[in-house]
Amino acid sequence: MTGDTAGSRIVLRNTLREHASPYDLAGDARAGLSSTPKTLPSKYFYDARGSHLFEMITRLPQYYLTRAETEILEREAGRFVEAVRPRVLVEFGSGAARKTRILLDAMLERGLLEGYGPVDVSAQASRHAADTLIRDYPDIRVEGVIGDFERPRDLPFPGRRRLMAFLGSTIGNLEPVQATAFLTSIRKEMTAADAFLVGFDLVKDVVLLERAYDDEAGVTAKFNLNVLRVLNRDLGASFDLEMFRHRAVWNAGNSRIEMHLESAVEQSVRIQSIGLDVSFAAGETIRTELSHKYTRESAVGLLEASGLRVESWCTDESDRFALALARALG
Ligand SMILES: C[S@@+](CC[C@H](N)C(=O)[O-])C[C@H]1O[C@@H](n2cnc3c(N)ncnc32)[C@H](O)[C@@H]1O
Repeated sequence: MTGDTAGSRIVLRNTLREHASPYDLAGDARAGLSSTPKTLPSKYFYDARGSHLFEMITRLPQYYLTRAETEILEREAGRFVEAVRPRVLVEFGSGAARKTRILLDAMLERGLLEGYGPVDVSAQASRHAADTLIRDYPDIRVEGVIGDFERPRDLPFPGRRRLMAFLGSTIGNLEPVQATAFLTSIRKEMTAADAFLVGFDLVKDVVLLERAYDDEAGVTAKFNLNVLRVLNRDLGASFDLEMFRHRAVWNAGNSRIEMHLESAVEQSVRIQSIGLDVSFAAGETIRTELSHKYTRESAVGLLEASGLRVESWCTDESDRFALALARALG
């Protein structure tokens, strides 16, 4: 499906319901809630409400990630853009595309900016970002994909020199094997002139990490519970949100924060549209998000295993977050 608004300056191609799309709520809910331990992929958080809650999270004092990455972008965006001289920016997991503007501004200042290609599962966030960007960048063309970045096909702006970006530590939401597969698939799309900018959250004090995913105001809890609302609305499930608790725990063995929803009582939940009854013991959890934390060594190892060579590695002043600028090897 192609949506075309604001003359022809925005084209958002919706691939979510295309044949063999990896965005399959019913299939993933059946598989994840029938397995031990129970899991749900984090991409299903992001309906309109979930995307809005995520934006609220990025403004929380405990959520240092956005501020640290912004600090690096403000300092380094000009240098990245000088090194690549891209005509277009293609961004995976673009969301509200707020930090994106720092890169777009650096491209605009150098007379390079022609287009922006967001790739995100959230239709609402993508549409809103596209509408505000064409208002604020009068000469920009937005050609995006509402779809799952894990099976990238027909990426925007083929044939133009592209800076690809994967910000916000979204790479951390992928298991290392998935992350390697994703990065490899993008690398195969890149020409020697293109570059890939990837944001990694770095290993740090466990208290700071756990606090970033469990704020006192309960915004992250609402975000986590939102996936149950999505299942209730889209699959006719009967989750009682009062009967589940948000948990964020550090898994040292896998170097990751895990978000879980813990059942407060023994209970059974019906998921009507897939004919599934899911039993929970009291205290049993659904793991809803992984957020892997990297060292420079593990991040460079991941990129190299995906056929990418790191050209530049930049951290914020407090070494909380890093941006790696990488090129396709060979
Ligand atoms: C952690 S947020 C980051 C948002 C933004 N890039 C930032 O840095 O603040 C993850 C974003 O990726 C999107 N997303 C998550 N999984 C996805 C997937 N498999 N395919 C496409 N988009 C996905 C979400 O809708 C959300 O906008």
